[in-house]
Amino acid sequence: MNYPKLPEDCKSMLCKHLTPESFEELKNKKTANGFTLEQAINSGVVNIDSGIGVYAGDKESYTLFDKLFDPIIKDYHGFGKEDKHTSNLNPDDLNAPNPDPDGEFIVSTRIRVGRNMDNMPLGPAISKEQRDKVEASVVEGLSTLDGELKGDYFPLLGMSKEIQDDLIKDHFLFKEGDRFLDAVGLNKNWPEGRGIYHNSDKTFLVWVNEEDQLRIISMQQGGDIKEVFSRLVSAIKSIETKVPFSYSEHLGYITSCPTNLGTAMRASVHIALPKLAEDMEAFKTITDKYYLQIRGIHGEHSESEGGVYDISNLRRLGITEVEAVQDMYDGVVALIKAEKELS
Ligand code: ADP
Ligand code: ARG
Repeated sequence: MNYPKLPEDCKSMLCKHLTPESFEELKNKKTANGFTLEQAINSGVVNIDSGIGVYAGDKESYTLFDKLFDPIIKDYHGFGKEDKHTSNLNPDDLNAPNPDPDGEFIVSTRIRVGRNMDNMPLGPAISKEQRDKVEASVVEGLSTLDGELKGDYFPLLGMSKEIQDDLIKDHFLFKEGDRFLDAVGLNKNWPEGRGIYHNSDKTFLVWVNEEDQLRIISMQQGGDIKEVFSRLVSAIKSIETKVPFSYSEHLGYITSCPTNLGTAMRASVHIALPKLAEDMEAFKTITDKYYLQIRGIHGEHSESEGGVYDISNLRRLGITEVEAVQDMYDGVVALIKAEKELS
C-alpha cells in the first residue's frame, strides 16, 4: 500500500494528521480481527470532504493505530494520551429547568448514546454472523425492559418502504446509504441485522447495527431536557445489565467513529432561531463559546428548514454525560436570549 493521494486543500483530520512517518509505521499492522490502516482511512480517502475521515474496526484499532488516532482525538476532543475519562449519569447533577416553557423556540429534545458490545469487532470489521449475533443479543436484552421502556423490535429486513420513509421523515430512524459509512464497510449486508426498537410513544428508541451496534435514544417534544436525560439514564442502566458494553478506562465507551468516544452522547434540541440565522457569524460566536455543533433538521449533513436547527454538544470525551448535556443546555439558554434580543 502506498501513501494515499490527498489533495492539498483537503481539510479533514485524516489529511491533517496522517504523516508519511506514521503511515510507514502503521501500514503493515493488523488487529486481531484483521482490521488494517488502509481500511481505517478509506472513508476519508474516498470522501475528501470528510470532517474526520477515519473509523476504528475494533477497540484494538485505537491502540494499534495510535499514531494516527491520538492526534485526531486530541484535536477533536482536546483529550490527551494521559487523560482519563470519567462518567456521571446522575440527573440530579444536571441544572436544566426547561429553558422554553412556553414552547416558543424548542420543537423537540433528543439525547442519544452510542454503545458497542464488548468482545465483538465494531461495525467496520464485523462479519455477517457476528452482526446477526449482536442483533439477537440486543433484541433479547431489550425484550426484558418494562414500564415506559417496554416496546417492540422492528427489523429493517421486511419493513415496507413506506414505513421506513415515515420513520426517517419523523426523525426516528437512521437513513440508509451513508457514503462515509459505505466506504468503511459499515453498510455491508444491508439491511440484514439492522433494525429499530421503540416504545409506543416513540420517546425511547434503540437503533441496532447502524454506525454503532446500539444507539440508545430518548426524545420528546418540547424542552424538558432533564426528563429526556432521566429516561435515557434509566434505559442505559437497564440495558447494560443485559448487554456488556465495550469500555476503556482511557477512552470511555468505544465507538467506531473517534468523535463519539467517551460519553458517546449527543444531546440536541431542534430549535427555531430565524433571526439569529440571518447573522451566522453571531450565531457561530455563541455556538463556539458553548462547544456546540449546528446541524440541519434531517440529521448530519442536512440543511436547516424554516430557521429550525439541530443544536448539540460537540465534546463527548474527557467530560461526563452530565457536563455534555450541560454544555448543550447552557448554550441553548444563550441562543434563546440572543434570539429574543433580536425579535
Ligand atoms: P445522531 O444523532 O445519531 O448522531 P443524526 O444527526 O443523523 O445522527 O440524527 C439522527 C436523527 O435524529 C435525524 O432524523 C435527526 O433529525 C433526528 N434528531 C436529532 N436531534 C433531534 C431533536 N432534538 N428532535 C428531533 N429529532 C432529532
Ligand atoms: N466520517 C464522517 C466525516 O468524517 C462523519 C464523522 C462524524 N460523524 C459521524 N456520524 N460519526 O465527515
